[in-house]
Amino acid sequence: MEKLVFATANANKVKEIKHILGDLYDFRSLTDIGCTEDIPETQPTIEGNALQKARYVYEKYGYNCFAEDTGLLVEALDGAPGVYSARYAGSQRNSDDNMDKLLVELQHEPNRAAYFKTVIALIIDGKETLFEGKVEGEILKARQGGTGFGYDPIFLPNGQSQSFAEMTADEKGAISHRGRATAKLKAHLDAIR
Ligand code: IMP
Repeated sequence: MEKLVFATANANKVKEIKHILGDLYDFRSLTDIGCTEDIPETQPTIEGNALQKARYVYEKYGYNCFAEDTGLLVEALDGAPGVYSARYAGSQRNSDDNMDKLLVELQHEPNRAAYFKTVIALIIDGKETLFEGKVEGEILKARQGGTGFGYDPIFLPNGQSQSFAEMTADEKGAISHRGRATAKLKAHLDAIR
């Protein structure tokens, strides 16, 4: 089993990605490798942030690793909150505050189209590879459901009758931005093993 560090402190992301990748890899968390500091995320793009986080761990700790960055892009807001999705309502990075702000911004907006985009940056022996996943949908007028995290309660994927927060992990993973990016990562890892 090969060691691979998943460079995130977000337990929800670890759960979703492990669920899809299965037991083939010996995942290490940041805590496992003794990385307890906040990893900088200062790039202006989702791709840039994913790479910045993976490079930080690879360069400072010397482990093969991957990191991911996600954003919610709302059409009527010209792609906002996008790369700033985590701190949309402020530096407290609170999901309820972020959802409240988005609902207010779209209060009188008929166009509720939005998509999630995830980029995973993988570094194996210095070689960098990016994997992208997207899911299109719309922003609901109020929260629905109690599972998931982040903006899940107000995101309805196209063609579905349930928000992400009303789905099981399997249901969300089968169609989500992160699920799609992770499936590409898995195919790549399986091919190079
Ligand atoms: P980051 O990739 O951790 O910077 O996440 C950006 C923002 O999007 C945070 O507010 C997350 O809570 C939110 N987010 C990330 N992934 C998801 C998801 O799968 N569903 C809903 N919100 C998400």
